Amino acid sequence: MKTFRRIIVRISLLAIIIFYITSIESYAFDPPDEYDHQFIGVTKCKMCHKKEKKGLQYEIWRESAHSRAYETLATPDAKELSEKYGVIDPQKDSKCLRCHTTGHDAPSEFKGRKYDISEGVGCESCHGAGGDYYRSKVMKGIRRGRINRERYGLIIPNEETCKECHNADGHMPVKEEFNFKIMWAKIAHPIPEG
Ligand code: HEC
Ligand code: HEC
Ligand code: HEC
Ligand code: HEC
Repeated sequence: MKTFRRIIVRISLLAIIIFYITSIESYAFDPPDEYDHQFIGVTKCKMCHKKEKKGLQYEIWRESAHSRAYETLATPDAKELSEKYGVIDPQKDSKCLRCHTTGHDAPSEFKGRKYDISEGVGCESCHGAGGDYYRSKVMKGIRRGRINRERYGLIIPNEETCKECHNADGHMPVKEEFNFKIMWAKIAHPIPEG
């Protein structure tokens, strides 16, 4: 009887372990839903990321081509391209908006009150929708490594992020092969040391 009980205990333990391992596996292989968080727009990020002491991220973005990416779609150059691609109004067509605006494919319930298409390629195009990570407590926790940024939707972008748009399957008026080092240098916005 004793040995029988021992076997039962072992089998249960094994079952628990197997369950645990497979649940980790399925978690690891289940990519997070791309649109789990709300897009809140650049003005929210600006509140805390505009000071020199912090690294002027807002200013650097505003001066960059990304902040004009939507306006660009109203230029004569855009019109010319549109004709080539059978697009009537590039400021209304997904064929252009998917790279020239933020979170274009996101369902409307993920576009917050302050979401503004005219902001073009905003912070959240690269860093992910900010609806859950923008609070000071969360931001600081993430910075200090106390909070898992993925859970809140914050992305630390890299070269692959850029290539989601800087690639050859757009129009492409891409002048040359995308060079991350050169292109990143043009828009880098680090937090100053100390
Ligand atoms: C309420 C203030 C606040 C708002 C709003 C805010 N942030 Fe932050 N953010 C911070 C603070 C504080 C830090 C920690 C670093 C520091 O002290 O400068 C931080 C850090 C970051 C980091 C670096 C994280 C890391 O681990 O290195 C990124 C990226 C970032 N913020 C992006 C954004 C974006 C994009 C938005 C808008 C969607 C935004 N933040 C909105 C306060 C804010
Ligand atoms: C796959 C992403 C992608 C799509 C789709 C896309 N674009 Fe672009 N577009 C870009 C990128 C990236 C640049 C910047 C290229 C560079 O300077 O290296 C750009 C640049 C431009 C420029 C030049 C801006 C300038 O003044 O230098 C125009 C005009 C333009 N796009 C119009 C359009 C139009 C019109 C459409 C739709 C028919 C469109 N784009 C679709 C990614 C895209
Ligand atoms: C959501 C799409 C998107 C993503 C992601 C993106 N870009 Fe862009 N980028 C554009 C578009 C569109 C333009 C052209 C805007 C315009 O001229 O109106 C552009 C223009 C630029 C320019 C100015 C063009 C030039 O030759 O000077 C630089 C620099 C740049 N991007 C760097 C980057 C880097 C670095 C990354 C990744 C960290 C990145 N981009 C990610 C869409 C994107
Ligand atoms: C074109 C893509 C792109 C856009 C748009 C963008 N960022 Fe970033 N951001 C990056 C990349 C790439 C990094 C560097 C990640 C790393 O350190 O490896 C970064 C880093 C940061 C950091 C951390 C800097 C550090 O020293 O650790 C902050 C804070 C930040 N971004 C805030 C913003 C804010 C606020 C906006 C909008 C005003 C914005 N970013 C727009 C791509 C982008």
